[in-house]
Amino acid sequence: MTDLPWRHIAITGASSGLGRALAEASAAPGVTLHLTGRDSTRLEETAETCRTAGAIVTTTALDVRDAAACTAWIEGMPHIDLLVANAGISGGTGGVAEPSDQVRAVFETNLMGVLNTTLPAMSRMATQKADANGLRGRIGVVASVVGFVAAPSAPAYSASKAAVQRWAEATDATQRRRGIRLHAICPGFIRTPMTAPNRFPMPFLISPEEAARRTLAGLAAGRRRIAYPRRTYALFRLLGALPPGLMAWASRAVPAKDVSAA
Ligand SMILES: NC(=O)c1ccc[n+]([C@@H]2O[C@H](COP(=O)([O-])OP(=O)(O)OC[C@H]3O[C@@H](n4cnc5c(N)ncnc54)[C@H](OP(=O)(O)O)[C@@H]3O)[C@@H](O)[C@H]2O)c1
Repeated sequence: MTDLPWRHIAITGASSGLGRALAEASAAPGVTLHLTGRDSTRLEETAETCRTAGAIVTTTALDVRDAAACTAWIEGMPHIDLLVANAGISGGTGGVAEPSDQVRAVFETNLMGVLNTTLPAMSRMATQKADANGLRGRIGVVASVVGFVAAPSAPAYSASKAAVQRWAEATDATQRRRGIRLHAICPGFIRTPMTAPNRFPMPFLISPEEAARRTLAGLAAGRRRIAYPRRTYALFRLLGALPPGLMAWASRAVPAKDVSAA
């Protein structure tokens, strides 16, 4: 995807899956990418592909649970047009119970890890010059369609995604008045290392490249909620409208997500 309206783009979780696809789809001459992840070898692989496409790329290996490291990363950038807070982990109950350390890790990564980059980015963007449309910067927060249901097989994951989706959409209402937009990105199932171990059906599974294309198109269109594919979104909205008892009963028929947070 070329001709995106952003020149300075920061992406967390760029060492794999959707984050890598977002970086590669944004890479072009004249674009500067600030990429982060934990695994520096895989992060460099993403960076090399993006450099080959003509982008200037910086890489920083960090853990999004480290608030000070995230603030330093954001503050070290000369300018940010777009931040995509994408890094995340998943894990389920394995049909038994979700381990306490996994519950903590999921919330620390998917919720606090998102705040650790988005809050300093908002402060930073507020000081940037507004463009002709009065826009100072955009932030895409990667949530999930799973956030629209209380998923018995992945309690912390579904709750963490609900939290960031609600937070991004609600915060957009006030931040847009000062030229900062927040977008909740709610993908359905994407073929990435995160979903590879899943033993349950994943309807309308899409490639990371397709997910990146839809994400960037939604951001460029300025949509507050970017949910796709439409059929998966509709399915999860429907499931989310079920009474909790019925949802829990129906989900017993589906193999549980494995315990796997890492
Ligand atoms: N796959 C799906 O079906 C799907 C659907 C909806 C939403 N999502 C969301 O999309 C996002 C990307 O997921 P994915 O499917 O692309 O999974 P993935 O291939 O496992 O990639 C996850 C990325 O997040 C990074 N990450 C994880 N924990 C981190 C931490 N503590 N600090 C820094 N980076 C960390 C990983 O870095 P390292 O690999 O370097 O550790 C990796 O780059 C996640 O937020 C996920 O919840 C995925």
